[in-house]
This record gives sequence, structure tokens and C-alpha cells, in this order.
Amino acid sequence: LLSLLELATAHSWSRQTRRLAPNGTMIGAPGYERHHNDQDLGVAEDHISWVMPPNDRPDGKIIHLDDKIVRPNQRPLGDSSYTDQYPMLKVAPGDFVAIQYTENGHVSLPDKTGQPVKPVNRGTVYLYGTTENDLTNANLVDIHLKWTSDGTGGDGKGKLLATRNYDDGQCYEAIPKIGDTEGITPYRQSTFKNDQSNLMCQSDVQIPTDVPVGKPYTIIWLWDWPTMSEEGVAVPPATWYANNSDTGKPYVKIPELYASVVDFDIVDPCDPSLGDVKGPTCKNKNAKNVVSFATQTVPVNAGVKAQMYNPWLVKVPQAGFNVTDATAAPSDIPLGGLIGMKQITFPLPASIL
Ligand SMILES: *[C@@H]1O[C@H](CO)[C@@H](O)[C@H](O)[C@H]1NC(C)=O
Ligand SMILES: *[C@@H]1O[C@H](CO)[C@@H](O)[C@H](O)[C@H]1NC(C)=O
Ligand SMILES: *[C@@H]1O[C@H](CO)[C@@H](O)[C@H](O)[C@H]1NC(C)=O
Repeated sequence: LLSLLELATAHSWSRQTRRLAPNGTMIGAPGYERHHNDQDLGVAEDHISWVMPPNDRPDGKIIHLDDKIVRPNQRPLGDSSYTDQYPMLKVAPGDFVAIQYTENGHVSLPDKTGQPVKPVNRGTVYLYGTTENDLTNANLVDIHLKWTSDGTGGDGKGKLLATRNYDDGQCYEAIPKIGDTEGITPYRQSTFKNDQSNLMCQSDVQIPTDVPVGKPYTIIWLWDWPTMSEEGVAVPPATWYANNSDTGKPYVKIPELYASVVDFDIVDPCDPSLGDVKGPTCKNKNAKNVVSFATQTVPVNAGVKAQMYNPWLVKVPQAGFNVTDATAAPSDIPLGGLIGMKQITFPLPASIL
């Protein structure tokens, strides 16, 4: 319990957003999530993070049809949602952005936090985009696994923009006082030549090129982190309660999802406020994806190459892939060597790291 507390209080769910140049480098000052809280002490839990289903549900860990997809203070978009200190990021249509989050030990300290039977990719992040900024009545079940990449799914009010592994392959948490047995943190620190004690994870996503200028664009960052029926499953299945026990396939035993909202202030692609790097459609109205990733020396200041070239690191039916369950190439999953492994011994060997 003590060790869990130590990890839980180490970082809040603070998120920030960064604009990415076509070469992957982060540019400009950061933006923030909707209604950002910079401290976790003295703030009610449901003001800084949002878990579904809630922990204290009397009828158990099941999703209800009217479960709201985000926490109360993130549902409306109003004057108090952003402040001078925690502003909304200004971006152009077609820009890439990084949504950064602290992994809270879910990536680099799985042994310490005693996490049971979780997928190897540490869960899948779904990024849903919409111009309907008011999420007051937005239910989880009406958006997640309903909105599709072509925007025709569910109520058609938004679309699935990308899927990412929660472990972005780079991030790690500072080694806690109780020590390190996983070996993930020191390996990543030296591999990425990063002298920081921790490195935030990121979900990179391209703002659609056809979003309207002069209006916020809303992205729901949703982390699907179910407890599975067995260990070593690569990615969560893209289904509710995928109880396939009669088919012999691994299934979701306990659903667990987290979500957060970030908004982007969409400006003209040639707007002076963007600085030297204008939006991709400034010079050429038909520009689509102009990524040309440069070798980066400091990952703390850059996007993730694989994410900038591939919106679908996890292939799901909602993105038009002809699959029944979510799938991913093992080579696209950080620590993919753990797929199929039922008993993990720490520290992890270099071959897996
Ligand atoms: C899945 O199905 C099996 C067999 O019918 C059952 O024992 C188990 O409780 C089910 N699990 C869930 C989460 O519904
Ligand atoms: C990427 O582009 C930005 C903006 O033009 C520039 O400041 C930065 O030095 C470039 N980074 C690399 C690694 O080339
Ligand atoms: C989808 O996959 C199934 C099974 O592999 C195959 O039978 C079917 O023809 C595929 N459909 C399309 C549209 O490719």
C-alpha cells in the first residue's frame, strides 16, 4: 500500500499539448487539457482524472449506458476551461500535435504496482475528434467503439482519428525510493540519452486538414486498460466485455477506461501567431501529410516517429480494417517480446527492453 501511495502521489494526471513541426520537433509554448488542475493535493479525484466504471459502483465493475465519457469539469467548454496560465494550444488545420501524459508507473513500474493481467501495449489510446465542443451529455457507449474513422459511425458527431499504444516506447517514471526491479527506466534513460529522471508519454495525432478555422476542435483522449482473462495478450480487443471464453480466445474480465479532453484553438494556416512554421495548408491548400521526420537528439522535445507516420498503430474495425478484434504488429508494440508470456521475471532482459 505504501509503495502504491508513493507512486500515486508522485504525479497528477496533468497533461499538456505541444505543436509538432513536420520534422517532429516540438515547437512553441505548451497548451493544456480542458480545465487543467496543476496540483493533486486537496482536489477531489474526479476533478483531475476520470475512470469508467467508477470504483465504488454497487453492481460491480460494469459500464452503464449513461456513464459520461469525461469528468464533470471537462464536459462543458466555457470561459473557465482555459486560463492565461493554462491556455488552449493554437494550431492550424493539418498540424500534428502531441498530447503528453505521465504514465504513473503503468509503463515502467508494472512489478511495483502489482498490475494484474494487463495487455502488453499497456492499453490502447483512442483519439476521438469533434467540432461539437459541449460534452455535457456525451455518454461513453455512444462514442467509444461507435465513432469511426470516416465519421459515419454512431451519431456521426465526431470521428476516430488514431489509435496508439499507451506505452509510446520512450516514456518512463523516476525510480521510486523502494528501488527498481523492472529495468525499464535505466534502459530507456540511456537508450534515449535523456538525463531527466522521468519522461512523459505522448499520443501524437494529426488535426484533420478540413477542420473549421476560428473555432475550437475537441479531442477526447481515451485509454482502454482492461484486465484480461490471461496474461501476455498484445492489445485489448476493441469490444465491450469481449467475453469470448467459449471461443477459447482471451477476453475482458474487468473493463477499466480513463478519458480526458483537450481542445485546440484552430487558427488560419498562415496565421502570424504560429511563428516560422506555418500550417501545412498555408502554401498548398491540398497538402495532406507533410511529415519528414528528422533524427532527434532529445526525445523530450520531439514527437514519436512511428506515430507521425502511422495513425493506426492498433488496427481496429472502427478504422475500416477488416478485423473482428483489435490487432497490432508485434514490432509496433514496445516491449512486444512479452506477448504470449505468462510469467514475467524482472529485470527484463535487454532483448525485450
Ligand atoms: C464470461 O463467460 C464465462 C462463461 O460463460 C463466465 O463464467 C464469466 O463470468 C463471464 N465473464 C464476464 C466478465 O462476463
Ligand atoms: C525541425 O524544424 C524546426 C522548425 O523549423 C527547427 O527549429 C528544428 O531545428 C528542426 N529540428 C531538427 C532536428 O532538424
Ligand atoms: C474480410 O475478412 C474475411 C475473413 O478473413 C474475408 O472472408 C472477407 O472476404 C474480407 N472482406 C473484405 C471486404 O475484404
